[in-house]
Parts: sequence; structure tokens; C-alpha cells
Amino acid sequence: MANLTGKKMLLGVTGSIAAYKSASLVRLLIKAGAEVQVLMTKSGADFISPLTLSTLSKRPVYTDITSEESWNSHVEMGLWADAMVVAPLTAASLAKMACGMSDNIITATYLSARCPVFFAPAMDLDMWQHPATRENVRRLQGFGNHLIPVGHGELASGLVGEGRMAEPEEIVAYLHHFWERQQSLAGKKILITAGPTYEPIDPVRFIGNRSSGKMGVALADAAARRGAEVTLVLGPSRLLPRESQVKVIPVQSAGEMHRAAQEVFKDADIGILAAAVADYRPREVSAQKIKKTGDTLRLELVKNPDIAATLGGGKAPGQWLVGFALETDNELANAQSKREKKNFDLIVLNSLQDEGAGFHYDTNKITILGKDNKIRKFELKSKLAVAEDILDEIEALWNGKI
Ligand code: C5P
Repeated sequence: MANLTGKKMLLGVTGSIAAYKSASLVRLLIKAGAEVQVLMTKSGADFISPLTLSTLSKRPVYTDITSEESWNSHVEMGLWADAMVVAPLTAASLAKMACGMSDNIITATYLSARCPVFFAPAMDLDMWQHPATRENVRRLQGFGNHLIPVGHGELASGLVGEGRMAEPEEIVAYLHHFWERQQSLAGKKILITAGPTYEPIDPVRFIGNRSSGKMGVALADAAARRGAEVTLVLGPSRLLPRESQVKVIPVQSAGEMHRAAQEVFKDADIGILAAAVADYRPREVSAQKIKKTGDTLRLELVKNPDIAATLGGGKAPGQWLVGFALETDNELANAQSKREKKNFDLIVLNSLQDEGAGFHYDTNKITILGKDNKIRKFELKSKLAVAEDILDEIEALWNGKI
């Protein structure tokens, strides 16, 4: 197991009864070799004494941006840290982080932090279920932050349900797992196709589709963060990956995407085909802008190459191929037969019937199907979190667990 030796961690403690668990969390982090700088909101300090946490962390605890004698630089702390963990995170602080309000030491440091940020919410079940909270969690995840899932059980109110902060041992295990998987795809070469394609009609017009490229770009970033060598063949999309080590090959049409993908896949271990490729293109591309002379205009369309089927057909032993299916009816059966036809090892199904899933949304709800006929359903999540789930499944396949 990766350890946390030498990792510089900021621990933000906000005002929840679960703050009493922060003492064991600090102890476990220190025991795992981390340096811990505790930050607390004023209400966090009402639940557990800063003296307890400063004794355990062997550092002063900051509860304010300014103290009597100094300014506690949230910018410096944000740059110093290898990770920031906010645990417990109340509904109020979650809402502030989700909309970028920086009115205390934790929210201000969060905005300055360049490191990975983890958040472990703690609240009552109705607060946790409220659409506003659900939306705030998705927003925070959508910015690339990591949710440490809440537990189910007895809550301080006496009610029983979801909303308990993860146990300190679970939080530490989550952090271990995060650093462990940082290199889990090291040495692997991954091709990802993403975005729409534009099929030219004349120099001005094209046939396109509504794909934003968000899912494929999120996959490229997530795979690069796990150490993979990623080449992203990207159709016309306004998005670009955040991770600078992702190699981008911009293309416009299905034909261009086909040629680029074939070339890259020759040398790749894994292909993930997230592009929404146009099935047909105009037979003729006019060299001049077409004039509006007649009342009707006929375009004859011819079939585009099926990139997935080409790559699937020529797949070498040891190469893996993952495709997507967007279905509107008989979803599972259609997706499974598409997987077989295109020789995908895994297929990711997203349904247009699910609210929040599909083109242009920041969220997606997927089901993954493999050769084993098992149905792996995931809940609605940000596309960044969905990308991590897809990569976890690919790694399981790679490691022989699927
Ligand atoms: O056949 P359908 O378009 O539904 O299949 C979807 C899957 O096939 C996606 O993974 C998509 O990227 C891929 N595909 C492709 N080339 C095409 C059409 C689809 O790679 N021409």
C-alpha cells in the first residue's frame, strides 16, 4: 500500500458534530507519515478544541485568516500542500465551496489550493438528499475535487440514513488509494477519441452533432493523472484537456479521425472510443459556397468508416478496446450486441432517458457491460467522477478481475 510519508496535508474542519472524529483523523494521518496543518472554521472550533488538534498535529491550528500578531497566508498554504482534505464538511461550507465564497480560512485556502482536494461531507439525511446539496456535490466534483462518500447509519439527530462522515480509517484508506492509483496506468499507451465530427458540405457548412467532448476529455485527463501516455484524437470541440502531458491530435471529419485513430492504435495498449462520429457524410463537397437557387436542395450522403469496427477487427492480443453506446430503447440488449459486433472488451452505456446524462451535461449516468454479462450500474455523477469509474473498470479488466 502506498503510504503518506512526507505528504503535506491541509485538514479543514468545519462545524459538525463529526468534528470529534478529527482527532483520530489527525492521529492516523501523522502515523501514516503525513505533515498535517489543521484549519478550522469558528464553528468547527466549537465542536473540538483547537488545542487538541494542535497537540496531535504538532503545529498551530489556524481558525482565522488573520490572528492578533500575523496574517495566515491562505495562498502560501494552498501552494504548500500536496493535498487538502475537508472533513467534516457541512452543508453550509459545501455550498460556499461550490460557489467560490471565500469568507473563512478554509474556503479561502480551498480557492488558492492547486493540489488535489478531498471532501468528506457530514450532515443529516434530509440535508444530504436535498437537491441543492446534490447539485453542490456534483459542482465540487465537476471542478475536479474528490468526494469521500458518506456512510449510512445513525445520525446525531437520532434519524437513521445516509449522511455520516466517513470514518477516519476510511478517509485515510481513500487517500492511500488515491496515491496508489496515481501510477496505476504508468507505461500504458492509451488512445482516446472524443467530440463530434464535422462533415463538410461546402467551405462554410457542415453536418455535425451535439457532442461536447466532455466525457472523452475527462477520460484523457484522468488517465494521464494515473500515469498513462495518452493521445486524444479530438473532433471539433471547444474543450482541451487540463493535463499538459496529454497529446492532442485535432481532427474535423470522421475520415480524419479514422486515419489518426488507426495510426495511434497500432502502438496502443488501450483504445477508448468516446467520440460521437457522424455515420454519413455528403458524397460531394462543393468547392464554392452553395447558392440558394432552388426551393429544395438534395444532399446525397455516403457511409463513413466505422472507426470502432475497424480497430476492433484488427485488435491484437493484449490490446483492449472500450466503446460507448447511447441508446434510446432496449438499451442493455442493444449495447451488448454492439459490444460484440465491434469487438469491444467493455461498453459504456448511457441512456438519453436518464435526466442529466448525455451531450453537454457535466454529469453522466452509466452502465458498464463486459464479456461476463455482468451489469455494472453507476449513479449520476460528474463526468470527471464517471471517468474514474470507467478507468477503474478498465484496470480491473487489465488485472484479470473482469
Ligand atoms: O454504432 P454507434 O455509433 O452507436 O457506436 C458507438 C460507438 O462506436 C462509440 O464508441 C463510438 O465512438 C464508436 N464509433 C466509431 N466510428 C463510427 C461510429 C461509432 O468509432 N463511425
